[in-house]
Amino acid sequence: MLGSQPQTGGGKNAAAASTGRPVLSVRDLSVTFRTEEGSVSAVDSVSFDVEAGEVLAVVGESGCGKSVTAMSLGGLLPRSATVTGSVLLEGTELVGASDRQLRGIRGDDLAYIFQEPMTSLNPVFTVGRQIVEVLRLHQGVSARAAKSRAVELLTLVGIPSPARRVDEYPHQLSGGMRQRVMIAMALACGPKVLIADEPTTALDVTVQAAILDLLRDLGKRLGTAIVLITHDLGVVADIADRVVVMYAGRIVETAPTQELFDAPQHHYTTGLLGAVPTAGRRASDGRLQEIPGLVPVLTVQPDACTFAERCPAASDRCRTSRPPLAPEENPGRTVHRFACWHPAGSEEDR
Ligand SMILES: Nc1ncnc2c1ncn2[C@@H]1O[C@H](COP(=O)(O)OP(=O)(O)OP(=O)(O)O)[C@@H](O)[C@H]1O
Ligand code: SF4
Ligand SMILES: [Mg+2]
Repeated sequence: MLGSQPQTGGGKNAAAASTGRPVLSVRDLSVTFRTEEGSVSAVDSVSFDVEAGEVLAVVGESGCGKSVTAMSLGGLLPRSATVTGSVLLEGTELVGASDRQLRGIRGDDLAYIFQEPMTSLNPVFTVGRQIVEVLRLHQGVSARAAKSRAVELLTLVGIPSPARRVDEYPHQLSGGMRQRVMIAMALACGPKVLIADEPTTALDVTVQAAILDLLRDLGKRLGTAIVLITHDLGVVADIADRVVVMYAGRIVETAPTQELFDAPQHHYTTGLLGAVPTAGRRASDGRLQEIPGLVPVLTVQPDACTFAERCPAASDRCRTSRPPLAPEENPGRTVHRFACWHPAGSEEDR
């Protein structure tokens, strides 16, 4: 259950409520869309685990399959999508689950936060009423109890004067406050997993940092596993425990955050790190470095490294054979995995 008072002191270094057992276990998840141009493979054989209290960041450029991965976890994709593989939420299989079962799970054990809270909040109802509805729908509590829980939740997410704010409408709140309300709604039923898809992209940089810190602190305190989707590797350094780097629908590298920053192996990751705005890594004219080239069209499934066209280290081998995400055994637990024939941090080829 959620506490009624926001506690302090959790901070970035709060120990994860790690159980060593994944709450969410994704294996060989693939998504294809039927389109007029043919079949589009948006997500290809993605596997990862997330534990209670852990923040897993999924990072990559636009179009690399982050949102499709996120939506497929909770069965939110349109009917033109075919999803295969396995998504186990505390042992319950979500791939192939009925719409009714998935509706029950969403908002209860699995919650989402999206980029723009204004489109997720209903402008004609007070924020309190919207939180109350979530609580009554999923937890069957009385109207009175739900209202006092709504105030507790607004307190928890750091909204000042929550007893007054609970009766305000979304347009009366700033963007950052609205995103805090969305977090309160997402946490209302004590979900085991929270999927946050670019939750701060629409916000000012300082507000972004505060919201991400809040998410991380709440995840640790409440034991919620968080999957944070972002195109910005810069924001994950402070808040993620582990990072999954996606390129063209596949995981190309995954590692604990510090290790990924210290010893990246895939050339796409090193390219992304080059685009992270840290002092020394800016181009001489002050602009961020960008990785040249474009994410390949996903209908093309070459027997090659998908990054070969853009990679400074590409060899003939890279153009004719696809590197596996290795080591291949025990995909959820192996600490550092990458799919590259000529890793950036090693003299040795694979
Ligand atoms: N309904 C759909 N039908 C066909 N293709 C789709 C559909 N939805 C997404 N795609 C394709 O799947 C690929 C992955 O899209 P996705 O939205 O997951 O990217 P993303 O990594 O979230 O990018 P961004 O950072 O821009 O949000 C893209 O090529 C996209 O065009
Ligand atoms: S496999 Fe080859 S093309 Fe792909 S990232 Fe590694 S070096 Fe570059
Ligand atoms: Mg997206």
